[in-house]
Amino acid sequence: YMLMKMAEGNCKIIFLETICNDPNIIERNVRLKIQQSPDYADQPDYETGVRDFKERLANYEKVYEPVQEGSYIKMIDMVKGQGGQLQVNNISGYLPGRIVFFLVNSHLTPRPILLTRHGESLHNVRGRVGGDTVLSEDGELYSKKLANFIEKRLKSEKTASIWTSTLQRTILTASPIVGFPKIQWRALDEINSGVCDGMTYEEIKKVMPEEFESRKKDKLRYRYPRGESYLDVIQRLEPVIIELERQRAPVVVISHQAVLRALYAYFADRPLREVPDIEMPLHTIIEIQMGVTGVEEKRYKLMD
Ligand code: F6P
Repeated sequence: YMLMKMAEGNCKIIFLETICNDPNIIERNVRLKIQQSPDYADQPDYETGVRDFKERLANYEKVYEPVQEGSYIKMIDMVKGQGGQLQVNNISGYLPGRIVFFLVNSHLTPRPILLTRHGESLHNVRGRVGGDTVLSEDGELYSKKLANFIEKRLKSEKTASIWTSTLQRTILTASPIVGFPKIQWRALDEINSGVCDGMTYEEIKKVMPEEFESRKKDKLRYRYPRGESYLDVIQRLEPVIIELERQRAPVVVISHQAVLRALYAYFADRPLREVPDIEMPLHTIIEIQMGVTGVEEKRYKLMD
C-alpha cells in the first residue's frame, strides 16, 4: 500500500512475483546463495550456512503474503523450462504488454552467450568503415583459433548455435567452426554508414566535415546520411535480444563493433549514452554467463 500511495498520479505499478515449487531448484539456489552471498562470507562451515539460510527462508514464509490484487504478473516455475507459466492480472497498455512479452520469453536456465567481432577484415586493415570485405591473414588465423576455442568450450554441450550477420567477414569467421548450426541475421549486420560506407575517418573529416563534427558531438543519435545511428542499431536488435533470452543452449554471436557494443551494453547493463564508446577489441571473445547468478563475464584474448 505504501508503494501504491507513492505511485498515485505518477506512474503505474506492476507487481512481479516469482514462484518456485521445485525442491531441486530451491536447493540449488540455497547452495549458490551460501557460496556467493557476503552474508555467509565469514561462515567457514558450509552446512551450517545452509541450515541457517533454510531457517531464514522459513521465517520469510511465515510473514509472506501473496499478491492478490492490482496489476501483477506471477512467474510460476518458469526456471525449469517446460511446464512453467505466467499469470497475468489487470495488465493493459503498450509497455506493460511488452513487459509480459519479454517475461514469457525469458528464463534463468544457466547458459553462456559468447560475443565476438569477426576476424580482422581488409577494410579494418585499411581503416575503412563498413563495406563487405573478406578477412586479412590475421583475420583468417583468428577464425581458426576461434573454431578451436569453441570446440573446447562447447565440447560438453548437447546443442548450441552460431549466429552471424549476413556480411562475408562474419560468415568467413564462422566457417571453420563445425558441428553446430549456423544462422545468419540481417539484424546483426554492422551499422549502416550510408554515404560514408567504405571511407576512412580521415576522408570523412576532409570531404564531409559537418558530418564528422555532428557525429563527434552526438555519436549515439547521429545518423549517417542514408544510413543508421546507434539508436537505429539498438532498435533493430530487439528481436535478437528476445531470441537470446529465449535460448536455453549456448549461443556464439559473431558480429561487428557497433552492433556488439549495443548487445554487450544490454547484457552488462551499461547506460545508453556509453554504448558508442564501449571498447570492443578484435580477436577477443566476451563470454557472458546468463542465469540465476546474474550476469557474469569472462574475456578471452586469442591474439595480440
Ligand atoms: O571499423 C570497423 C567498424 O566495424 C566499421 O565498419 C563501423 O562503421 C565502425 O567500426 C563502428 O564503430 P564507430 O561507431 O566507432 O565508428
